[in-house]
Amino acid sequence: MSNRLPVDHEVNPDGSDAWRTSPGGLVTALEPLMQASDGAWVGWPGVADRSFDPFEKNGISIIPVRLSALELEQFYEGFSNDTLWPLYHDVIAPPSYHREWWDSYVAVNRRFAERAASAAAPGATVWVHDYQLQLVPRMLREARPDLLIGFFNHIPFPPYGIYAQLPWRKQILDGLLGADLIGFQRVADAGNFSAAVRRLFGYTTRGVAIDVPDAAGSRHVIAKHFPISIDAASYEALARRPDIQERARQIRADLGNPGTIMLGVDRLDYTKGIGHRIKAFGELLEDGSLSVEDVTLVQVASPSRERVGTYIALRDEIELAVGRLNGDYSTISHTAISYHHHAYPREEMVALYLAADVMLVTALRDGMNLVAKEYVAVRFDGDGVLVLSEFAGAADELKQAILINPHDIDGVKAAILRAIAMPRTERTRRMRALRRKVFDNDVAAWSASFLRTLTEGAVVRAGVPDK
Ligand code: F6P
Repeated sequence: MSNRLPVDHEVNPDGSDAWRTSPGGLVTALEPLMQASDGAWVGWPGVADRSFDPFEKNGISIIPVRLSALELEQFYEGFSNDTLWPLYHDVIAPPSYHREWWDSYVAVNRRFAERAASAAAPGATVWVHDYQLQLVPRMLREARPDLLIGFFNHIPFPPYGIYAQLPWRKQILDGLLGADLIGFQRVADAGNFSAAVRRLFGYTTRGVAIDVPDAAGSRHVIAKHFPISIDAASYEALARRPDIQERARQIRADLGNPGTIMLGVDRLDYTKGIGHRIKAFGELLEDGSLSVEDVTLVQVASPSRERVGTYIALRDEIELAVGRLNGDYSTISHTAISYHHHAYPREEMVALYLAADVMLVTALRDGMNLVAKEYVAVRFDGDGVLVLSEFAGAADELKQAILINPHDIDGVKAAILRAIAMPRTERTRRMRALRRKVFDNDVAAWSASFLRTLTEGAVVRAGVPDK
């Protein structure tokens, strides 16, 4: 179960229904797993006030959940993306707290739980995903105590000092504790969660195990990190296709064959540090360290949450910065920033990754950042340099990247110059180590490890391992 289905509903110009792949890392990660399983995916089809019967798409059984236009506003844009999203990302933007949004969050979580409760077979495993559905585990357990319930949080879980702002902080924790296993991206996220449980409920925690009192005495809930990944082999397979390699050459040529192509790929979100990246690049052009004849930055900013105020303001801010920089530095033959407010098919993204000498991931806070892993998976040629924010979950694993603090603009500038000048031997050595990480811990290994822990927890309910 996830808020967003792997496909979003769209209407063709002739009025017929169309389904398009949904944006975001969650879908990238879960789609191959669900294609390989005979379960069903419960979620929202990306459009308000429309009901759809269950259907099959790209080898996945889909069970759509309806949201009204008001719920879209209050549950999705409001509580999920204007309360929880900024709060869980270290309050980079101020979270808004509205009681009607909370009421809508409760109501929509209940609908999701009811849908899953009626679809799941006796004793089935239900895996609930992400911050939009944190009340579902408890609701589901109450309706169907026979189920094995896992929850995975794709975004960070904040330190208590930040989490404590939330007026409904106890209800959310209680909702999550309805699960048998709660997964997080980083060790720190799982630690933050357990600390919040201790502070707010006083429950005993032992390593990754939490004792949660219930009618029968107590249940053991496990809260542990499971860093998510991608289907690395399928990205490499695309990168090896001659037509995609030809497209990568074409992209380079169309950009005027600059010495270095730098690439940023993000949902247009204030957590991604796109402005910091543009500022650093602009200063390097200004002080003459770089010139547009030698270096181009390609920035793909895919549209996201376009009716939420902070996202509207961010788009204006980024596009103003891009326009200014291009006005100041572009020439007729060379554009400083090739900016694209679009989502592209995976084939085009792989061609872009192949064309890019330097990949810039400058997130101010990010659960994982699968773009970093996609770039590494694609570079079977052993070339390319990844510049990676230490505030992205991926930095816990991808230590051979050039790690940066995106708030330190001088540090980002130095990292960019270092990446551009890095000798081939060092590039290859680093990329080889990065690729080993990404291929050894691909998304199949991630889900297998989560589901194994969930099942083992059920078997060893009386004495869970502490590590
Ligand atoms: O991984 C974070 C996440 O919010 C997912 O839950 C979501 O599917 C994706 O990013 C894209 O966001 P949205 O569904 O709001 O477009």
